[in-house]
Amino acid sequence: ARCHALIPCAGSGSRAGAGRPKQYQPIGGAPLVWHTLAAFAGVPRIAQTLIVTAPGDDALAARLLDRLPHDAFALADCGGASRAESVFNGLARLLQRGAAGSDWVLVHDAARCLITPALINRLIDACLNAASADEEGGLSGALLAMPLPDTLKTADAAGRAAATLPREGKWLAQTPQMFRIAPLHAALAARAASGFAGITDEASAMEAVGSRPLLVRGSAHNIKVTWPEDFALAAALLQTRHE
Ligand code: CTP
Ligand code: MG
Repeated sequence: ARCHALIPCAGSGSRAGAGRPKQYQPIGGAPLVWHTLAAFAGVPRIAQTLIVTAPGDDALAARLLDRLPHDAFALADCGGASRAESVFNGLARLLQRGAAGSDWVLVHDAARCLITPALINRLIDACLNAASADEEGGLSGALLAMPLPDTLKTADAAGRAAATLPREGKWLAQTPQMFRIAPLHAALAARAASGFAGITDEASAMEAVGSRPLLVRGSAHNIKVTWPEDFALAAALLQTRHE
């Protein structure tokens, strides 16, 4: 089975408040998502990377491909109203383009621009090794994640801490998340009628149909640019690579 990548790149970045979708905000001399794509360009065993953009963002997105190997990347302007819908539409496009349902797909947030080839390879190796060791074929896939570093609180309606949850056994999901295309597409299809409610990553869709994806330790540097202050953090982390 081959490996493909799918990059949901169709969000509006409302929490980042950059005045434009955060994935196109310049950082380290290039649009933010360019750094994301450059990491995937450094993993030759990924057959093709499909970038899912919002309809109408084609011009912005086309400029991204300038400095990347042309045959390894493609654009699809089939972004939806939610991340899950963008991924669902992108998976259909991958299948239309000739990917097999049994092929693997790595779904990765455009906004997670600190991803590295080493982390991508760590996920692929862990997933393929665990899948081949799993005699009954029960392992559906894997995701990068980090053990929770901080104390976890629940808040009441007044914004006061109401309880403290044990952090043992709790993880923060990152991306990439790696599954076979057909089962992931089916798991998302099952949630389409409810508007993908509660589906904020690929693993949550797979868990909803009974799968137990493997958690693979990611990196505290693999942040998703989400808040205004994250741009400076991401820029500083990118900068350390060139020192
Ligand atoms: N995404 C997408 N389609 C959507 C919403 C999000 O492809 N309808 C993508 C974003 O572009 C991003 C990734 O999913 O790369 C993670 O989503 P998030 O961090 O929530 O980005 P936004 O939705 O753009 O930001 P916000 O939620 O603050 O508006
Ligand atoms: Mg969002």
